[in-house]
Amino acid sequence: MQSNLIDFTDKTVLVTGGSSGIGRATALAFAKHGANVAIGDMNETAAQETTDLIKSQGGKSLFLKTNVAQSSDVKALIEKTIQSFGGLDCAFNNAGVFHPPLMINELDEATFDRVISVDLKGVFLCLKYELQHMRKTGRGAIVNTASIAGLQPEAGAAAYVAAKHGVIGLTKTAAIENAHLGIRVNALAPGWVRTPMTKEWEENQEFNEKLRAAAPMHRGAEPEEMTGMVLYLCSDAASYVSGQTFVVDGAQTIRGLLPIEVEEPAQAQRRNDARQFQPTPPTH
Ligand SMILES: NC(=O)c1ccc[n+]([C@@H]2O[C@H](COP(=O)([O-])OP(=O)(O)OC[C@H]3O[C@@H](n4cnc5c(N)ncnc54)[C@H](O)[C@@H]3O)[C@@H](O)[C@H]2O)c1
Repeated sequence: MQSNLIDFTDKTVLVTGGSSGIGRATALAFAKHGANVAIGDMNETAAQETTDLIKSQGGKSLFLKTNVAQSSDVKALIEKTIQSFGGLDCAFNNAGVFHPPLMINELDEATFDRVISVDLKGVFLCLKYELQHMRKTGRGAIVNTASIAGLQPEAGAAAYVAAKHGVIGLTKTAAIENAHLGIRVNALAPGWVRTPMTKEWEENQEFNEKLRAAAPMHRGAEPEEMTGMVLYLCSDAASYVSGQTFVVDGAQTIRGLLPIEVEEPAQAQRRNDARQFQPTPPTH
């Protein structure tokens, strides 16, 4: 077995939603492991910060303002990536939006359409144009960001749940259509990750306490805690892994009926806060 399986030297990786949260942490991690990183996102200022961070650490990065729900934008992003870096080896289709809690009976069509077009159609469009290129070169690895909401329901999140279940379906279909070519497609299903998307959950003290009490680790993940799985799935270490959904949720989805811990929840929370994951600043 090779010793350097997680090495992206001279490889080109595309990350959507790379301006913030999980996407930014993963873009930085790919760059740290040698990749040229192309970023597609709506948020120009924040995306520029990500590319500047990568370049300041000696990496290569480009950004194109992209709405993943727009076919022409996605096509242009992939063309620019290939022209600038000479190819496309891996993609992390991660851009996404959430919606305010609304039961199905009160969920408006505009919200439903917006979430489906970014979270589901966006992944479809990225897959479509990435695979057109990868099928020509006969290699590639793709990770789509789903969610634990792609595996189980979440009351008040119907559009998001539907989109993320759809992402898992797209992942399996893309995997089976391309396995014979050696192109692999998998999905990441995070639990609660502390990003701008979930900032409101932190700011609402009562909700935050409920969330922490329900989380087996009594905390949300830091975005950097998602990057190991994405890099692994895109690397040669995962050369026989395709069509699967990988849950990274601190044991959230396997919790049973009984209380999580024998010790007092407040005591457990303090212990976990003390141990809280501290990301290592990226170095090159
Ligand atoms: N944070 C969580 O708890 C959590 C849990 C499960 C899954 N996820 C998923 O992880 C992914 C990343 O989310 P995050 O938590 O890092 O949130 P985030 O808000 O920090 O990042 C989302 C990124 O997507 C970009 N984006 C939004 N709409 C876009 C569009 N139409 N075109 C291009 N870019 C667009 C945003 O500008 C932002 O950079 C999403 O798909 C989200 O659904 C997040």
